Amino acid sequence: MPTIIQFTKTMPKQVGVMILPVIDGKHGKLKDHLSAPLYKRAKKELEDNKPGTKIMAGNDGDNFTTYIIANLGKNPGQLDFEKAGGQVFKRLSDMHEDSAVCADLLSPENGAAFANGIFLRSYDFKKYKTRGEETKSKDIQIKMITSKKANAERCFATIKAVSDAVFVARNFVNEPPNTLYPQSYVTEIKKLFKGTNVKITVFDEKKLDKMGAGALLAVGKGSERQPRLVTLEYDGRKSKEKSGKPLALIGKGVTFDTGGYSLKPAASMGTMKMDMGGSAAVIGAIKALSDNKDDVFVVGAVALAENMIAGNAYRVDDVLVSLSGQTIEVGNTDAEGRLCLADALTHVQDKYDPRAIVDIATLTGACMAALGLEMAGVFSNDKKLQDSFWKNGETTGDDFWPLPVNKDFDKLMDSDIADMRNISSSPFGGASTAAVFLQRFITNDRPWAHLDIAGTAWRKGDNDLHPKGASGFGVRALYHWATTYK
Ligand code: BES
Ligand code: MN
Ligand code: ZN
Repeated sequence: MPTIIQFTKTMPKQVGVMILPVIDGKHGKLKDHLSAPLYKRAKKELEDNKPGTKIMAGNDGDNFTTYIIANLGKNPGQLDFEKAGGQVFKRLSDMHEDSAVCADLLSPENGAAFANGIFLRSYDFKKYKTRGEETKSKDIQIKMITSKKANAERCFATIKAVSDAVFVARNFVNEPPNTLYPQSYVTEIKKLFKGTNVKITVFDEKKLDKMGAGALLAVGKGSERQPRLVTLEYDGRKSKEKSGKPLALIGKGVTFDTGGYSLKPAASMGTMKMDMGGSAAVIGAIKALSDNKDDVFVVGAVALAENMIAGNAYRVDDVLVSLSGQTIEVGNTDAEGRLCLADALTHVQDKYDPRAIVDIATLTGACMAALGLEMAGVFSNDKKLQDSFWKNGETTGDDFWPLPVNKDFDKLMDSDIADMRNISSSPFGGASTAAVFLQRFITNDRPWAHLDIAGTAWRKGDNDLHPKGASGFGVRALYHWATTYK
């Protein structure tokens, strides 16, 4: 059970923990909540005006209260309010507190963002814990005091829908690969969208074979659990001009990546259950759109496969016929993500002719080498589209940095006997060569962006808005993009 957040107008008589947000060191209003000696101390604590949380405790009037001062620093934006909320949650959980009240010191928008930060940081995954206390998640109750209750609640509801979708994505990514495989994933997706207006279509291995999706099928061939391609159509347009083209979101859903016959060393195989993080981001974003009934037309597609070894698994040197008709020589069975995406890209473009298309994938170790673990790469044939991800990190917290695609990289993907190879002839620039491989499946020069989240889908440690493990990275970026792209 995650954190419960309520907005109310009046401060309760007895408060165990009071949260006091302060913007730009402006402490005047704290006088209403603190005794004179405590206020004096708070002023002192705020002198350095460094963002962060400070704890004070003392008798104020009749009861003993712990105060968490959350200093937001100068000119905080939406993300700063969220991060401060996340820090407050961490404090509460470290102190084993299970409730707190936040004083009426923030606007409805900022209060909602602050509460959302508390909520996002409170996620945990306890499903497989069986012993004692560990099985229970912390159920923290937060009361946000506000004189503008209705307004604050309205702001919070919209953001919270996106955060719930982030949790959906985190749950999928944390789920182990013996329980989350292509068909079980399909079952969960159907459950998730039951009763919504999102139309789900599933292509199983027979249908994929009939269609000619030879790239996706090859990746999953060695697994007992055969591949699936799932499309999700969300049409929330208020006025439906029937000719309007959708936006498209494509996600890599490799439920486990052993590397196949180009086997991963043991140390790199651990956590490869997260290789479906792109698909989880797509599903999350579409769930948020449908919950918020956003006025947009978006189709999603997730390519689900398990990359395993078996007598009938695909091999190095195989030549595959992709759904696009283009042939691919396999240079490395561990470069499987691009093969799955290739067929999904083709299917969605053929069927929906989207006006812009974005794919998201845990695609390359090379992207992690280039950008580290806090930023994802964005590759694009369209400057405006690229900027819409690059420049929005400050709003969504999903940070991107642009990396190149061009003809020089493209040449490196040529094959002697087929139209292309799935690996580059050069050991360098692996994130860009993966991107130009995908670009070969983009038709009609439509605006396309590829998001490589190999470094960001899974966290070794926590930060203000994320516990360790699955991050849900991409849900917020895709949602923001789908609701703002013109
Ligand atoms: N799923 C991996 C990429 C990855 C690595 C994601 C580490 C998250 C963490 C992908 O399928 C892969 O194996 N890529 C290869 C490509 C290479 C064979 C061209 C890689 O990056 O080494
Ligand atoms: Mn791989
Ligand atoms: Zn992979």
